Amino acid sequence: MRLIKKVTAVSMASCMALSLAACGSSASETTAAATEAATEAAGDSAEAAEDTTEAAKEAASGEVANKDKPLVWFNRQPSNSSTGELDMAALSFNDNTYYVGFDANQGAELQGTMVRDYIEANIDTIDRNGDGIIGYVLAIGDIGHNDSIARTRGVRRALGTGVEANGEIDSTPVGTNTDGSATIVQDGTLEVNGQTYTVRELASQEMKNSAGATWDAATAGNAINTWSASFGDSIDIVVSNNDGMGMSMFNAWSKDNQVPTFGYDANSDAVAAIAEGYGGTISQHADVQAYLTLRVLRNALDGVDIDTGIGTADEAGNVLSDDVYVYNADQRSYYALNVAVTADNYQDFTDSTVTYAPVSNQLDAAEHPEKSVWLNIYNAADNFLSSTYQPLLQKYDDLLNLKVDYIGGDGQTESNITNRLGNPSQYDAFAINMVKTDNAASYTALLSQ
Ligand code: BGC
Ligand code: CA
Repeated sequence: MRLIKKVTAVSMASCMALSLAACGSSASETTAAATEAATEAAGDSAEAAEDTTEAAKEAASGEVANKDKPLVWFNRQPSNSSTGELDMAALSFNDNTYYVGFDANQGAELQGTMVRDYIEANIDTIDRNGDGIIGYVLAIGDIGHNDSIARTRGVRRALGTGVEANGEIDSTPVGTNTDGSATIVQDGTLEVNGQTYTVRELASQEMKNSAGATWDAATAGNAINTWSASFGDSIDIVVSNNDGMGMSMFNAWSKDNQVPTFGYDANSDAVAAIAEGYGGTISQHADVQAYLTLRVLRNALDGVDIDTGIGTADEAGNVLSDDVYVYNADQRSYYALNVAVTADNYQDFTDSTVTYAPVSNQLDAAEHPEKSVWLNIYNAADNFLSSTYQPLLQKYDDLLNLKVDYIGGDGQTESNITNRLGNPSQYDAFAINMVKTDNAASYTALLSQ
């Protein structure tokens, strides 16, 4: 709307400069039109008049209202934490609002399949106590987080231990289930070389610490110590919703006991641990996500097609191919695709902070002048976000000429972060990583003031 107004103003001004005749209308015609326009304008509602004044002020100062500035949600998709339903009000807050994450279902299926493939390939040695049951324990990140829910379901689906509740595999933590009597999960069966094996989820729990932080690595380390002390011989596999918790369990117990441990994220330390017996992990292509997070802001600030440097090459040659991301227009969401990282290919993933080569070309600062961005990491102590995602963002912000203020949250309360969004007018764009996926309104309310 502002753009159209500006164009009109410019063409009117040039008409006046060129003389009225040159603009293709006689003086009397112009006067009549002007009178009509004035009458119409006077008849407009008070509200519209106010709008115009505000817009005029904005145009005059070159300032954009905070509610109209580019906004990207990342890593935690605005959604209902009980039902998973997307919060479309937050996702379409303004015309330049997007989400950047990864394909949780595709990744979850990969993780489940990776674990099952491992069991099948090692079937002769996997059952450590020889009781005919392949037992695993599962570290759950956050029971109200879509990604965590998807991963729990993916593992249970692949191993046959899932139980359907309302058409979906139940993702509730089981607590302990060493005797197989739980109803939240069931014993699965795997056919390998014509023989049938039982698979049991011996235990699972949400790794939340007493202060309320989820995906908590230290809590996972304590859990494996407790579990192994009472039924260590029956644990044949350790699975985790992420590498932070997975590595904590690996270091606390499974490495010494040579029990394959599987995580998610492909953080550098987890990939390195594959050489020492860590079973495998999933790369959620953080190198592509971090790029997309800042790229959509850059494009919106430049006023160019949102696909620039994404599906369509920009002038520096940055472009992504469709085997690394998908865009869902209805959900206003970009999803990076996942890749399994195992003993077969881990050498290609040793540094999780390297930018993705096809989108690592520097933008010209004259064409894309520096803009300032407010960005928060919901939990400064989160392994994935602090050791993989943020270092990547810090490389891409240079390439995209964005000056980013990184705010690190405590992982527990939204106010710890929103308190530090005191002056949104100081920034050109915002990138938000919520503590709880239900809480988008606490941020949009600040931008709407
Ligand atoms: C990552 C986890 C991380 C979480 C934070 C997930 O996508 O896999 O490691 O803790 O995001 O929101
Ligand atoms: Ca066993």
